[in-house]
Amino acid sequence: MAHPQLLIGLMTGTSLDGIDAVLVDLSGAQPALLAAQGTALPASLRHDLLTLQAASPDEIDLAWRAGNSLSDCYADSVAALLEQAGVAAADIVAIGNHGQTIRHRPERGYTIQLGNHARLAERSGITVVGDFRSRDVAAGGQGAPLVPAFHHAIFADAQRHRVIVNIGGIANLTNLPRNGDVSGYDTGPGNVLMDLWIHRHRGERYDAAGAWAASGKVLDDLLARLLTEPYLALAAPKSTGRDLFHADWLDAQLAGRNDAPADVMATLTAYTARTIADAIRTTAPSVDDVFVCGGGAHNPTLLAMLGDALPGVGIASTAALGVDPDWVEAIAFAWLAQRCLAGASGNVPTVTGAAGPRVLGAIWPA
Ligand SMILES: Nc1ncnc2c1ncn2[C@@H]1O[C@H](COP(=O)(O)OP(=O)(O)O)[C@@H](O)[C@H]1O
Ligand SMILES: [Mg+2]
Repeated sequence: MAHPQLLIGLMTGTSLDGIDAVLVDLSGAQPALLAAQGTALPASLRHDLLTLQAASPDEIDLAWRAGNSLSDCYADSVAALLEQAGVAAADIVAIGNHGQTIRHRPERGYTIQLGNHARLAERSGITVVGDFRSRDVAAGGQGAPLVPAFHHAIFADAQRHRVIVNIGGIANLTNLPRNGDVSGYDTGPGNVLMDLWIHRHRGERYDAAGAWAASGKVLDDLLARLLTEPYLALAAPKSTGRDLFHADWLDAQLAGRNDAPADVMATLTAYTARTIADAIRTTAPSVDDVFVCGGGAHNPTLLAMLGDALPGVGIASTAALGVDPDWVEAIAFAWLAQRCLAGASGNVPTVTGAAGPRVLGAIWPA
């Protein structure tokens, strides 16, 4: 048996729902998940991270202080994970730490994932690999999505044409045709608009199991209006985030309307499903099976709408492929950290638009 390669992956996504932490053994062809933990962000930190999604006074100080707090939360997650698994810090090769995106502006040549990696290395005593996106952006790429290389490594199949859809705050797809010619991009909103809407009207973080959306009816005229968003028609490579799909965007779409909130909820859910389905039909017309991961995998209303929009296509979660949909992204960043340390490239240039393959990430040694 191969010597274990224990790595930790930390993911804090656009949804700002919390820290996903995984401990994996990456010595084999498929990752072995040894422990996993989801931890909510403290309310005050979440508030600061939301504030930092747009320009605000004294944002540099706020960002660096929030980055420090976030790294302390990461260190707590790492400690809890090690305790859960009964593994010592000294046995961990590295932590792959995505950080929290507060700006994503590849068109201006930068993307910022907050987090004080030095502080995490200091507190955990483990080598940290972070800032995965900047090198791809420096090479002219979008710096996103970065999960397709990992999806390709573990989910590609020679017999079946698969598409992997990660429905986090933003949704991204990875197209895995039988010939191995991987492609992918951010399709548009995942849960971010739905979360915004239910929080505004009901004070809840998300629409549990899509129940509120299921109680409303889809407003076809509003859906048609939302579908005119120019991002959707852009050719790949493309990536997006809260820089585009935020509360002001939604308010502009709803201006002059007075719809029942449940109907808007149904329509926003349909919008996410429709934009993903349209992307799949355009990019992968001969797809056999779609596998969903990310928090959206827990929303049956959304998945039913996706299925309706893709007749004849099998829709399942990545659990059917042996990987829990909640942990795919965090495992991907452990995998990307392993690639970085091995001096191996982590981007797919045809996905991100970078000039070529690049080793992604920077290293803060233990
Ligand atoms: N039980 C559930 N029912 C409906 N939606 C859910 C459920 N659990 C999680 N979600 C959705 O998934 C989101 C989190 O997804 P996640 O993959 O963590 O996104 P990100 O990578 O952006 O953090 C939540 O904000 C919520 O919208
Ligand atoms: Mg999350």
